[in-house]
Amino acid sequence: MTAEHTLSTQDLHLGYDGRKVVEGLNLAVPPGKVTMIVGPNACGKSTTLRAMARLLNPTAGAILLDGKDIQKMPTKEVAGVLGILPQTPVAPDGIIVSDLVGRGRYPHQGWLRKWTAEDDEAVAEAMRSTSVLELASRPVDALSGGQRQRVWIAMALAQRTDLLLLDEPTTYLDVTHQLEVLDLLIDLNEKRGTTVVVVLHDLNLACRYADHLVALRAGKVLAEGNPGEVVTAELIGEIFGMRCSVVPDPISGTPMIVPIGRHRSGAPA
Ligand SMILES: Nc1ncnc2c1ncn2[C@@H]1O[C@H](COP(=O)(O)OP(=O)(O)OP(=O)(O)O)[C@@H](O)[C@H]1O
Ligand SMILES: [Mg+2]
Repeated sequence: MTAEHTLSTQDLHLGYDGRKVVEGLNLAVPPGKVTMIVGPNACGKSTTLRAMARLLNPTAGAILLDGKDIQKMPTKEVAGVLGILPQTPVAPDGIIVSDLVGRGRYPHQGWLRKWTAEDDEAVAEAMRSTSVLELASRPVDALSGGQRQRVWIAMALAQRTDLLLLDEPTTYLDVTHQLEVLDLLIDLNEKRGTTVVVVLHDLNLACRYADHLVALRAGKVLAEGNPGEVVTAELIGEIFGMRCSVVPDPISGTPMIVPIGRHRSGAPA
């Protein structure tokens, strides 16, 4: 099992060019658990996740990794513990799949340390578990959206960090691959004790896969906790302004959100 690390935000303020996005956020990621963050577009999910991975500096407040201010920690120390897959990662021009996944190993490379068998193993395992081995020598920019997304997930997995943050990792994926990716994250959590934080738009999958659900609106936590305890039609209405019915998921028993739109919501004729 991996060491369990703590990650939290303390009165965190984030913004861009003077425009405030997050004001006074206090969020503690439960160690060794799977946390899913949900919320409407532009509510600050990616902004928060990027700050938690030190890709964005707070305007006030702090992010604490193992109780230490992440801003004051050496990059290598942060990168050795915490990996992130941003919402829109950019691949270097012309890079091939195996090289991109291999870049996930950079945080582990010292100036003098050579590529090792362990690096090979981590890259191969990450590519195997995301089913991208057969794409190994293809240029990343010549892949389909879903193939490319799986390659990025492989890169994030190759880092083998104890904490893994993923921003909408199932974007572009067909339904089979969405489930595969989420199942894979649960495997990592159960087998390695990896603490996983995922931003997800699919509320039903978030409710099914999360130990801990965080509902954000306008940069604030509206509710958090076990999905079965916090998800109600009122909460969904408050977050998304959408009318819905919440019923037990017939497969998992977790909350399943059934939207009520303006059309086609009546009983069939
Ligand atoms: N690089 C940036 N420069 C300026 N403003 C930004 C930048 N990135 C995000 N924003 C703004 O910050 C706000 C929050 O954006 P963020 O990307 O965190 O939203 P989100 O919750 O991840 O939304 P989505 O579900 O659409 O991915 C939005 O109003 C957005 O326009
Ligand atoms: Mg986002």
